[in-house]
Amino acid sequence: MRKLLIKNGRVIDPASGLDKVCDVLVEDGKVRGIGSRVKGQGARRIDAKGMLVVPGLIDMHVHLRDPGRPDKETIASGTRAAALGGFTSICCMANTHPPIDNLAVVKFVRSRAEAEGVVNVYPIGAVTKELKGEVLSEMGLMLEQGAVAFSDDGKPIMRADVLRRALEYASQFDVPLISHCEDANLSSGGSMNEGAVSTQIGLPGIPSLAEEVMVARDILMAEKFGRVHIAHVSSARSVDLIRQAKRKGIPVTCETCPHYFSLTEEAVREYDTNAKVNPPLKTQKDVKAVIKGLADGTIDAIATDHAPHNIEEKDVEFNQASSGIIGLETAVALIITKLVAGKALTIMQVIEKLTINPAKILKLGKGTLQSGSVADITIIDPKAEWTVNPSQFASKSKNTPFTGWKLQGKVMWTIVGGKVVVRNGELVGE
Ligand code: DOR
Repeated sequence: MRKLLIKNGRVIDPASGLDKVCDVLVEDGKVRGIGSRVKGQGARRIDAKGMLVVPGLIDMHVHLRDPGRPDKETIASGTRAAALGGFTSICCMANTHPPIDNLAVVKFVRSRAEAEGVVNVYPIGAVTKELKGEVLSEMGLMLEQGAVAFSDDGKPIMRADVLRRALEYASQFDVPLISHCEDANLSSGGSMNEGAVSTQIGLPGIPSLAEEVMVARDILMAEKFGRVHIAHVSSARSVDLIRQAKRKGIPVTCETCPHYFSLTEEAVREYDTNAKVNPPLKTQKDVKAVIKGLADGTIDAIATDHAPHNIEEKDVEFNQASSGIIGLETAVALIITKLVAGKALTIMQVIEKLTINPAKILKLGKGTLQSGSVADITIIDPKAEWTVNPSQFASKSKNTPFTGWKLQGKVMWTIVGGKVVVRNGELVGE
């Protein structure tokens, strides 16, 4: 494989605390050296002056819809969207058709990713068969085939006894259970956050308590039975509960998504179904609390919850529309615009939440640029401005509430295992 020499970028590696303008040498798919004197004779040069050179980003929460809904997304299209978004590794959720609840589907996802994918794909197995929340799936067998965690994401596990067994089982292997926190009885019939806006526009609400009571339950379950990772945290009280739990040393980690720090429930006032998401967008107070949770380390990771839906499921009455927002191709720019340019977090902090933190939670052995590590590298122009236009996305679905937004920060190069997949902001060879 060819040698690459990435010149003069601001190299940021949160795993080692490195933040320095220098060069990175890649050879045979590995990082071979970082510094100002690395020699790269015969190497292809990438001029990264003015850019951030960071470990390949990891998105621990993606819906690829493969198998089952190739009209919404496939592993081919979803991994291309990931690459354009700077993600070199993505974890795909189990709510496919059929679901990833047995070893055959794990094998299918892995082999298709091998054949058609352009970034690393790590399957997440379902906790329960058919995500019904009743009978445990083939967890052990799926792990042997490469599943990295378990989740019924999209649906809560309402039965605490089932969650208990799953945690007891998963803790033997030290893999996390990723919990979609939603009390299905409290959320039943709702389609947006319950509050002033839902009353004014006449949509049935989901109280934030639907998320919070399950966060509280799962913290208690984690204390007793094993590691829980809480998906898509959206509410102020959830952040508080997790902060307290961490102080007590309970094995709980969590993620939030760009839409929970970029938007409030106001985004659905005009009945924009592209802003319909589960858990629903909340209030300014929640947005502030999510940002504070990110800044103080309560929230470990930023994941997209990339949830592609087609026009047939979005261009309908609000109550009928599917929930979900695509996120792979807007995440980096929303993070830079909302968190870094807004001075709420440093670039080091956000890169940590996109690399080494998710890698540690899932034990992926990635997320760093240290010498000898696999050369998954993302190069970002932090100053570049662009306007969101979903017709230019590689994702097959266009359900974003950010159309027309002017954002700062553009992924210029994505390198996976030493291979250039995105060059100057465009997919290579396509
Ligand atoms: O809005 C959502 N969409 N939330 C989820 O938890 C699942 C996801 C999907 O699969 O569409």
